[in-house]
Amino acid sequence: MTLPKPLPEVSRFRSFADSRAMARNPVRVLSEYCRVFGDTFRFYVGGLKEAIVTIDPAVIQHVLKTNADNYQKSEIQVRRMGHFLGKGLLTTHGEAWRTQRRLIQKGFDRKQLDALSSIMQDSLADSLRDFDRRIRSGPVDIYPHLMKITFAMVARSLFGARLKDDDIDLVSHAIGTVQEFIVRQTLQPYMNPWFAVSGQLRRHEEMRTRADSVLLAYIRKRRHEPPGNDLLQTLMDARYSDGEGMSDELVLSESMQLLVAGHETSSNALSWMLYLLSSRPDCLERVRQEFDSVLGESPLCQADVPRFEFTAQVIHEALRLYPPFWMIDRMAVEDDRAGDVVIPRGSMVIVYVFGAHHAPRYWQNPENFDPERFTRANERLRTPFTFLPFGGGPRVCIGSSYAMLQILMILSDLLRRYDFQLAPGQNIEARPMVILRPEHGIRMTFTDAVKPAPCVA
Ligand code: HEM
Repeated sequence: MTLPKPLPEVSRFRSFADSRAMARNPVRVLSEYCRVFGDTFRFYVGGLKEAIVTIDPAVIQHVLKTNADNYQKSEIQVRRMGHFLGKGLLTTHGEAWRTQRRLIQKGFDRKQLDALSSIMQDSLADSLRDFDRRIRSGPVDIYPHLMKITFAMVARSLFGARLKDDDIDLVSHAIGTVQEFIVRQTLQPYMNPWFAVSGQLRRHEEMRTRADSVLLAYIRKRRHEPPGNDLLQTLMDARYSDGEGMSDELVLSESMQLLVAGHETSSNALSWMLYLLSSRPDCLERVRQEFDSVLGESPLCQADVPRFEFTAQVIHEALRLYPPFWMIDRMAVEDDRAGDVVIPRGSMVIVYVFGAHHAPRYWQNPENFDPERFTRANERLRTPFTFLPFGGGPRVCIGSSYAMLQILMILSDLLRRYDFQLAPGQNIEARPMVILRPEHGIRMTFTDAVKPAPCVA
């Protein structure tokens, strides 16, 4: 074994001096650090808390996969999110997480996704009626619209068609507002005493409680109704090795976590994809041709997914350039070592996904949109753990196949119905909050698609 080398370090002073720029745009600062300090370095969050940042695939593989048991989710995810979201896949670890993961995984296998396809199609048809009305009066910011479409789809996949539209709106509003509040608590921790005294904390807790009670009543009602083919049914039917099932409260918190994890990520990916395609008519044309040849006029279902080659390349390239989870954070439980890198117990490790996806060492002309990177032949050449939109190791995204189905389904309907253009005069910028969002939105004009004229013999 070689002796460990000291890690390059961004000094406490510089970390502190850069902390305002970091709060404004961490991607800009961390990418500059990677350029100066290399693939793995130490820095101090806000000048205080020590963290190891890495884009080195060997270190990433070690942390996320090889010794994953030694790396728990960070305090922010477990404590802040757990406060509002309860216990569930996102916020637990160890044996409790492993058992839940095994049970919930069934809800995302191919058979279940097949069953979900028609629920997803119905939800999309409903959402697009509203979308169609909105786009008639001029350019729209696609981001909130796609959020609404994906939220309704995930909510229907979870709770089925029997949950009332008003209840979906109430839960959607609660989740959106509470998520924003968690971000404020995280970015401005010094405001937390004020949030408590001013009643803001209580108001957000009450909002969450209202959404909980609506969903809990629905879950209890469903226990006495004929089975559905939604994810809620999978959660209610799941059995531990002793034959017991999940309590209503656990079913509630697991569904809430799936809802939170599952809606904003896909809408984000879709927003960036439409943006990228709007400036590449050649790629857009190939995507349209693929939808035509794979689907014709039929709706898309799970069995069609593997038949999309070029469109899947475009989705992957959009996820490379704009990974919704721009970083993945962990905390080391015990002292550890990944190759040369010593990771003391208690250290925060930041897997800097955006940095790995944009590193010139692993990607030629990394800033260019080039779906050819993801042809099967090129995929075989890629170094493992340099492309991580869905994370990696045992905690890899449980919903990745659902996400691919959802993205393809929404894209297929949008492209068959509409032509779209980017509205002029915009400054499109990515803002890394919990998720990498378009900072000022993305305004686009949609018009009815012009079908190619039929050939006259
Ligand atoms: C393009 C869409 C998506 C992206 C980019 C994405 C990305 C990710 C990433 C990077 C992780 C790992 C986080 C970590 O290791 O700390 C993750 C975990 C997770 N994702 Fe996704 N996700 C997407 C869609 C979805 C959907 C649609 C669902 C559910 C319906 C979902 C549910 C989850 C859950 C429950 C976890 C936690 C898994 C665990 O810890 O066992 N995701 N996702």
